Amino acid sequence: MPGHEIDLERVICRLADLEEYGARAFTVGGGAWPLRGFVVRYGNEVRGYVNRCPHAGHPLDLRPHRFLTPDRAMIVCSSHGALFEKDAGRCLAGPCAGERLQAVPLQLIGDVVLIAASADLAALSAAAR
Ligand code: FES
Repeated sequence: MPGHEIDLERVICRLADLEEYGARAFTVGGGAWPLRGFVVRYGNEVRGYVNRCPHAGHPLDLRPHRFLTPDRAMIVCSSHGALFEKDAGRCLAGPCAGERLQAVPLQLIGDVVLIAASADLAALSAAAR
């Protein structure tokens, strides 16, 4: 991919990795508090969020990579059933209605999904705690 330097530290997955569940969890960074998030297909685009529910702070997926309703229309928190828009992370129903998931800025280079170079990893990691 001429003209693009890929920072391997920020690589999440390939688009094809999202086919099985429509979403995928990721961990970026080391130490005690890495950034734990997930990415989700939205049409031809991909959105990223911190994997922390605004209700009680739980990870949304009780089973790995299972972030979506069965019809894949919405993001669902497995703990208490909050439903979130895929495109903006806003909770439309459930115990945290009106709140939002913390977005993770993404970049697509070819079919590689990575965290945008402009993203503040330290701030996002703190939001995931
Ligand atoms: S922790 Fe997500 S709905 Fe309660």
